[in-house]
Amino acid sequence: MLKGKKIILGITGSIAAYKSAYLLRLLVKEGAEVQVLMTKAAKEFITPVTMSALSGRPVLGEFFESKDGTWHSHVDLGLWADLMLIAPASANTMGKMVSGICDNLLLTTYLSAKCPVFVAPAMDLDMYKHPATQDNVKKLKEYGAVIIEPATGELASGLSGKGRMEDPEVIVDNLRAFFSEKNKPLKGKTFLITAGPTYEKIDPVRFIGNYSSGKMGFNLAEEAASRGAEVILVSGPSQLKTINPAIKRIDVESAEEMKEACEKYFKSANAAVMSAAVADYTPETVADNKMKRTGDELMLKLKPTTDIAAMLGSRKRDDQVVAGFALETNDARKNAVEKLKKKNLDFIVLNSLEDEGAGFMSDTNKITIIDRENKTKEFPLKTKQEVASDIIDYLLSYLK
Ligand code: CTP
Repeated sequence: MLKGKKIILGITGSIAAYKSAYLLRLLVKEGAEVQVLMTKAAKEFITPVTMSALSGRPVLGEFFESKDGTWHSHVDLGLWADLMLIAPASANTMGKMVSGICDNLLLTTYLSAKCPVFVAPAMDLDMYKHPATQDNVKKLKEYGAVIIEPATGELASGLSGKGRMEDPEVIVDNLRAFFSEKNKPLKGKTFLITAGPTYEKIDPVRFIGNYSSGKMGFNLAEEAASRGAEVILVSGPSQLKTINPAIKRIDVESAEEMKEACEKYFKSANAAVMSAAVADYTPETVADNKMKRTGDELMLKLKPTTDIAAMLGSRKRDDQVVAGFALETNDARKNAVEKLKKKNLDFIVLNSLEDEGAGFMSDTNKITIIDRENKTKEFPLKTKQEVASDIIDYLLSYLK
């Protein structure tokens, strides 16, 4: 969740500053880019050398570099950051933040910051309890800051009570939870996704199937779930496993079973993505016993299955989106557009077997998305995970 996130870590004068080194280490380990800002008092508790070594960036604290006059722009810093975390936040700094005093770089950056600000106070229990501090905490919350309440325990003063800066692990958990909530634009939405092949029984030991692995559908399910959606994944026989607990997996075998599951869950779905390679025909009768080799020609009579995508397309309400796939070997675009119309889909994802690396068995796919207005978006060859992300991105604009 913190990978690539730009975080300003502001450190103020408190004995808890020694914990900031470990906090910084955790943030960097999670993949965050961290710019450390230290007040003058903070440097009495922990050295900037430790913090710059751990963050891989020079620590900032002054408005100007005295040696060459380089100006450190608090405005740029405020714009750069995805999040500002002040840990530990002393009573003094909190008071200044509330009053709009900006006599150091940390405070000017706080006032300029456009990003969310998290504050982890650290002080003696009586200082924290004091009405002045409590008023400041209240005011900071009103100004939009998130206060990571101090923990209760032994304090540097020898006293015991509430005032200890929260443990670095807990602070990092808070940031993780914040970013994960932010990354869930599909919260409250339900996705119905079909995946894999279907097996159409001939006799107790034989079936008609296809080479679909289910990878595209499973990746779509994980992608939608990771963005907060509840996912119903109706899968034909596949070796793949689901990871996200928000995915409810319904295992089916035949096209008929897949149809029944889709009928059941479509009503409550906001979006349906039909990525399964559903058999178009199924044996008219299934032999009760294993068919014997007679030496003669064998004729199997097949009947059409229900076109599930077309069935959902014909039933879809205005608030529902239905997307399908078209796997083509020739006249790819023409065939895909025909399917889009025939099945009343909102858009169709075309993969052409004419493109190397596209299709059933591979880990990659090369897609083109075509919508009802015939608008086309072509994507380069990507992993199926990346393709899933592109498809979900595209689908977002259809969801009300
Ligand atoms: N599909 C479906 N039910 C079927 C057949 C296909 O839901 N019985 C869906 C697929 O999941 C896919 C889309 O319809 O999203 C197109 O599938 P495809 O096999 O490419 O097309 P068909 O309509 O089966 O046409 P054809 O096999 O003739 O190319």
